[in-house]
Amino acid sequence: MSDQKTLSLIKPDAVERNLVGKIIDIFETNGIVIEKIKKVHVSNEFAKKFYDVHKDKPFFKELCSYLSSGPIIAMVLKGENVIKKNRDLMGATNPKDAKEGTIRQKFAISIDKNSVHGSDSEENASKEISLFFS
Ligand code: CMP
Repeated sequence: MSDQKTLSLIKPDAVERNLVGKIIDIFETNGIVIEKIKKVHVSNEFAKKFYDVHKDKPFFKELCSYLSSGPIIAMVLKGENVIKKNRDLMGATNPKDAKEGTIRQKFAISIDKNSVHGSDSEENASKEISLFFS
């Protein structure tokens, strides 16, 4: 399989607790290449665009306020099968369900403050990368 790309975000709760290096170390230790990286503080409008797929969910408003509440790290990760690999390393959305050793099991506070985001498909990866890096 050829290299894939995916968007990874380190969310405000993890940036605030100085966990950026520890999270990037997990990616690099697992053979993932950080192709692009930047620190940004997105607006609520931008967050709404980013999370558009969740616009009908009851938690949409809080989700967007949270993503825009402080600086985040946006990255393009590159590697073989990196979309799945990243999601395996992140662990389940709710840290209570995340497997031992995953990023969310180690660092996440709650389902909202769950430290990282990762694209879930090639189609969404491509959309999310263009939104952050165009
Ligand atoms: P993320 O991978 O960034 O994608 C959408 C986010 O919605 C998810 O992580 C969670 O942080 C957040 N979220 C809040 N409540 C829920 C919920 N009940 N189910 C799924 N995701 C939720």
